[in-house]
Amino acid sequence: MNEDLQKRIQEALANPQNLGELANADAVGTVGNADCGEMLRLWVKFKQQDGRKVIDRATFQSFGCETAIAVASLATELIRGKTAEEALSLKTEELAGELGPLPPMKIHCAQLVEGALRSALSPQVAAGDKPAGFAATAADPAAPTLLDSFSKPKAGGVKITFLDLGPEK
Ligand code: FES
Repeated sequence: MNEDLQKRIQEALANPQNLGELANADAVGTVGNADCGEMLRLWVKFKQQDGRKVIDRATFQSFGCETAIAVASLATELIRGKTAEEALSLKTEELAGELGPLPPMKIHCAQLVEGALRSALSPQVAAGDKPAGFAATAADPAAPTLLDSFSKPKAGGVKITFLDLGPEK
């Protein structure tokens, strides 16, 4: 990893945005990468604005990987004010924002964030912008934190999707 990128990642990590569980979230998505063991969970809350359902706030929890944390911090800021469709149309490199292009070995870190976003928002898109669908796809308020997923596993609890990102480059 070049020094500039490392510096930008460190800057993002020095003041990570939107870290932690989001109470009363409307949607939640959790993904994992079996190769590196990283997991990431994203919470999303919507609001109505000018007749559109837009993302009011998004937060995340992540284990370990600095690049994934930096991307999640930037991405959760980037998607504020966007509809689910607009957020889902963002490309992996756009989610990484001011970090700039990631080296091949770190692209999967941004893909993890993208995967969590898709996991959280896809049901929202499927349900459309109708308030009824909105309520039907609301996140389970009793959903455990990411840490709880490991320390207190329960039957029928959290579904973690492992991304197939292909061979490590
Ligand atoms: Fe795997 Fe970053 S090293 S998500």
